[in-house]
Amino acid sequence: MTDGGQGGDAAAGPAGRDAPAPGTVPPAPVVTQARRPDDAVPRQLRGFLALDDFEPAARRRLPRQIYGYYAGAAETNQSRDQNRDAFRRIAFVPDTLRDVSRRSTAATLFGERHRFPFGIAPMGLSGLSCFEGDLVLARAARAEGVPMAVSATSIMPLERVAAEGGARWFQAYLPGEPARILAMVDRVERAGFDTLVLTVDVPVPGNRENNVRTGFSIPLRPSLKLLADGAAHPRWSLGTFARTLRAGMPHMENMDARRGPPILSRDLVRAVGKRDGLSWDHVELIRRRWRGRFILKGVLAPGDAREAEARGVDAVWVSNHGGRQLDGALAPLHALPAVKAAAGSMAVLFDSGVRRGSDVLKALALGADFVFLGRPFLFAAAAAGEGGVRHAMGLLGAEVDRNMAMLGVNAVGEVARRHVCDAHPPPGPG
Ligand code: GLV
Repeated sequence: MTDGGQGGDAAAGPAGRDAPAPGTVPPAPVVTQARRPDDAVPRQLRGFLALDDFEPAARRRLPRQIYGYYAGAAETNQSRDQNRDAFRRIAFVPDTLRDVSRRSTAATLFGERHRFPFGIAPMGLSGLSCFEGDLVLARAARAEGVPMAVSATSIMPLERVAAEGGARWFQAYLPGEPARILAMVDRVERAGFDTLVLTVDVPVPGNRENNVRTGFSIPLRPSLKLLADGAAHPRWSLGTFARTLRAGMPHMENMDARRGPPILSRDLVRAVGKRDGLSWDHVELIRRRWRGRFILKGVLAPGDAREAEARGVDAVWVSNHGGRQLDGALAPLHALPAVKAAAGSMAVLFDSGVRRGSDVLKALALGADFVFLGRPFLFAAAAAGEGGVRHAMGLLGAEVDRNMAMLGVNAVGEVARRHVCDAHPPPGPG
């Protein structure tokens, strides 16, 4: 059950976002204090008024190669840019004169209550955004009461992020090899994770020309360019990179059941191996082995949602990987309604292009049960560490709360299709 925590889950839809039946009076929701009083915000964070404010600060702090890897997308950036544009094409149709004084931003997913209807998406090499970046994101998410998915391409062992950061979602890139799949699934279970996210839109890495232009690669190749850029960003070089190296050269920790090679190793690509053989057969294999919640991330086609449901998957995550994979892939916001209609009893998660509370609400109105953001939280970590990420969540939560009031809803689950329409409808007849 979403919102307000009232009622039992039995009465709710897949992710518990069902609004009360028309004509019934909803029980009193729990009011969340989404907005922190200004004097509770540390001075150094007060200039960050919206999520987009973190990116310029992160850009100044990070070496060009690292910033470029985080911010960039594939080929022409068409999908990345259309992800944002999709939100501009949707307008709100608010309900007025509703008593919204008891509203709550709380949302329940898989029977679990979260403070906000959003969480942190998995992101590669988050550990280089600031010192122990994977842990910073996990701790911020835990403190704010929202989910965070640990990335397969993280540089801290997933066991540590679970034990020290309380992370319970793990995102995997798996090869189409049953023995490696099962060993990895068992490792994730042993570490105490309860939610496995299988990313399905990376049969091969996207064509990231921007990485070539900036000199970034995986494996990282030391070069004069890299060195010079590191010297130009001493705060990152000393505060993040040198500190990280003190504990040893970072490794790809979570691509397989066994630790992968160092991120500088020429063996990296060979050791990680091909991942283009993954198929629905492997989804079935994982479903038979994995007892926790199982999510497929990177779904845009309604047919894939139907395939997933037939195999007992718990949720599909509508995403085009922030535009980082197939350039030209449909903006997930446009894909949402059809995927929702095909998803049956599964929950529908969403990411790609979310920067504002209004974006969160638009995605909920078009069928998402829960929304995830990546880059903005990574930039917040780079700019201001755990406090920065928590502040970013507070800002986004406050935007959701404020816009819920102006939309005329008390609960996240009340946000409905009627609250949005095409912002540029075609001219009517005549
Ligand atoms: C990793 O998932 C990436 O998109 O770089």
